[in-house]
Amino acid sequence: MKRIVVLCGGKSGEHPISCVSAGSVVRTLKDCFQITPVGITRSGEWVEVPLEEVCSWNLKDLPEIKAEGRKKIEAVPGSGLFLDGKKIGADLVFPVLHGVGGEDGAVQGFLETLGLPYVGCGVFASAACMDKHYTKLILKASGLSVAPGITVDARGGIDAASVAKRLEEEGISWPVFVKPAWGGSSVGVAKVEKPEGLQKALEEACKVSWRILVEEGISGREIECAVLERKGEKPLAALPGEIIPGSPSAFYDFKAKYIDTSLCRVQVPADLDPSSQRAIRAAAVKAFEAVDGRELMRVDFFLKKNGQILVNEINTMPGFTEISMYPSAWKSLGMSYKEILVDLVENAV
Ligand SMILES: Nc1ncnc2c1ncn2[C@@H]1O[C@H](COP(=O)(O)OP(=O)(O)O)[C@@H](O)[C@H]1O
Ligand SMILES: [Mg+2]
Repeated sequence: MKRIVVLCGGKSGEHPISCVSAGSVVRTLKDCFQITPVGITRSGEWVEVPLEEVCSWNLKDLPEIKAEGRKKIEAVPGSGLFLDGKKIGADLVFPVLHGVGGEDGAVQGFLETLGLPYVGCGVFASAACMDKHYTKLILKASGLSVAPGITVDARGGIDAASVAKRLEEEGISWPVFVKPAWGGSSVGVAKVEKPEGLQKALEEACKVSWRILVEEGISGREIECAVLERKGEKPLAALPGEIIPGSPSAFYDFKAKYIDTSLCRVQVPADLDPSSQRAIRAAAVKAFEAVDGRELMRVDFFLKKNGQILVNEINTMPGFTEISMYPSAWKSLGMSYKEILVDLVENAV
């Protein structure tokens, strides 16, 4: 039986979501593999978390891993992970982590330094997809379309008037979306109708990251496509899913994602004409290859009325609860949640 370490929690704002994803993953895989969960606290300590505790986590409780009362995990470069001075036997690590410090290449590089193989994208793809500014540069260079916009460096302060001027010079029309370059769960993302609203939106985004994207608001459907790559095979795109807002002005913000899920509906598979479906699946595979993806990612799109496809962003460790888009997309092609997870573990390098 393969021995796997499941990493959960983490330093980002998506800590509780990671725990919920890890709960689903561990409940499903505990009969197939010998699992040692390792929790990462908000301040970055690695601690022991009992398997039964992880199995009990769900979205209702928004779990938090605290260091108090837990044993520390030690890490030795080239050797791996240790608990109470004893090596934790592990064939590989499943980093069920979202956002900065988990999905951005930092943990991936650390695991490589420890000499532990892991599930999912490597250092480069993880880092490239965490920073939306660089994701867009790579996608554009590979011939994929993205939303028009500008990037703002807020380290020297925020000057909304000069941002508004740059938007005008670039011919970007309103409303715009202001968003942190490295964020997640829509935290710090705002739709801004008029230049007067820019200052406040930039200040909010700046709390998450000093690099800020200001993009033309795209009116179109929001489509997400799961990609899976098995060892030695070409990446495969699942049937795309759709985020359907409950009202015309709503967007997929934090509240709609996790608090009041009736604000937006998730439909898998999306109701698409065959040519749009084909184009989106092809673009998802192209995006996967452009950023040097490995094993899995979810590529998020806008589909405009005129049929144009824009890539919005890429998640290298998408939400992994049983109802999340990534596993649901494979279910619609006949692969169960468990089969997908086993596949990811078996294909990890
Ligand atoms: N340029 C845009 N045009 C229209 N809607 C957008 C745009 N950028 C973001 N959004 C909306 O904001 C949501 C969150 O933005 P996104 O870039 O996906 O950040 P996150 O990484 O936080 O999910 C999207 O799902 C979409 O509803
Ligand atoms: Mg998103």
